[in-house]
Amino acid sequence: MLEEHLKSVIRDIPDFPQPGIVFKDITPILKDQQLCSEIIDQLVECLQGVDIDAIAGVESRGFLFGMLLANRLDIPFIPVRKQGKLPFKTVSESYKLEYGQATIEVHEDAFAPGSKVLIHDDLLATGGTVVAASKLLEKLGADIIGYTFIISLDFLQAQGRLTRFSDRIISLVR
Ligand code: PRP
Ligand code: ADE
Repeated sequence: MLEEHLKSVIRDIPDFPQPGIVFKDITPILKDQQLCSEIIDQLVECLQGVDIDAIAGVESRGFLFGMLLANRLDIPFIPVRKQGKLPFKTVSESYKLEYGQATIEVHEDAFAPGSKVLIHDDLLATGGTVVAASKLLEKLGADIIGYTFIISLDFLQAQGRLTRFSDRIISLVR
């Protein structure tokens, strides 16, 4: 089963990047191209019948599978980047995460207003990142139609923060 396989591969790093955080290291997944394909297969299966215009991925780990998923679905990818990285005109949103604070930005012409956008990130912790991404994309007229994650840390109870945007929340590992 994919979830069990992923759990056996994802590496726990205690006290990174600060004491008290158990960091979920997904880099071992990236060494296994078959496993990467199975992740995309599973996400595509979960999204069967869902009308999606674009996938937005959050820098940096959200880019890894977000871009693969968009490519497999044959739809555009929207890079949501940390502050100061995007060269054209941007809109921005600030937020807190499990171990700090950040601002994210998107190009103002990244997608057409009214687009049905699915947000992908590698991991859901407090939800701060994807809530900020949702607000940011909504500012530009996106209709947030769901979320996909490789991992969700359910003990942090972030899912309730997302349902005001969409109740389609897909996680491969809980
Ligand atoms: C990590 C992870 C998610 C976010 C989840 O990103 O990739 O984007 O934290 O935390 P939250 O649900 O509490 O917001 P990070 O900001 O560490 O950046 P990275 O992807 O560049 O490592
Ligand atoms: N982002 C926020 N919390 C995290 C964690 N525990 N492991 C990996 N990435 C994270």
